[in-house]
Amino acid sequence: MDASHMGNDIEQVLITEEEIQAKLAELATQIWAEYEGKDLLLVGVLKGAVMVMADFMRHLPGTVPMDWMAVSSYGSGTKSSGVVRILKDLDSDISGKHVLIVEDIIDSGLTLSWIRSNLESRSPASVEILTLLRKPEAAKVEIDTKWVGFDIPNEFVVGYGLDFAEQYRNLREIVTLAPHVYS
Ligand code: PRP
Repeated sequence: MDASHMGNDIEQVLITEEEIQAKLAELATQIWAEYEGKDLLLVGVLKGAVMVMADFMRHLPGTVPMDWMAVSSYGSGTKSSGVVRILKDLDSDISGKHVLIVEDIIDSGLTLSWIRSNLESRSPASVEILTLLRKPEAAKVEIDTKWVGFDIPNEFVVGYGLDFAEQYRNLREIVTLAPHVYS
């Protein structure tokens, strides 16, 4: 679906499909130059990163493997505590590999901060982060993010993998929702 299918549920298109694809192509060129010849593994974090992973890896001019993690909070306090639980771990051993975590959004940074530490404890050659979106004003922890698509305001956004109550992940753009949807 695209924004035209949202009726009055949409407030504003923040990032268009063309802007997303152009940015992912640009990042793919830079990232390929950095990792060419190295044992690279892309690690996606379910579910939001599905679209970013699918499009980013197809912009790469060579073959690369991917693996996935799913994490969940221990309760409503988890996002603030930064403690997460692994629901699905990686299928592969990452020791000696150059890991690139692929994410849709860094909000508080707590999820990725935890995932990064967890992966770093498994003896990889390196761990870096690619995120399509980042909310600088929402950061609760400092997180070294090598590749960022777009810095966005601290507003609730959906689309391109990001959901509201599991809806809108299949929207092609990144949009803000009209207040009546979530109030
Ligand atoms: C989102 C997103 C990140 C996390 C970012 O996932 O995909 O993993 O939140 O938030 P943080 O920086 O405040 O930790 P979510 O928990 O909504 O799960 P989903 O990807 O399945 O939608």
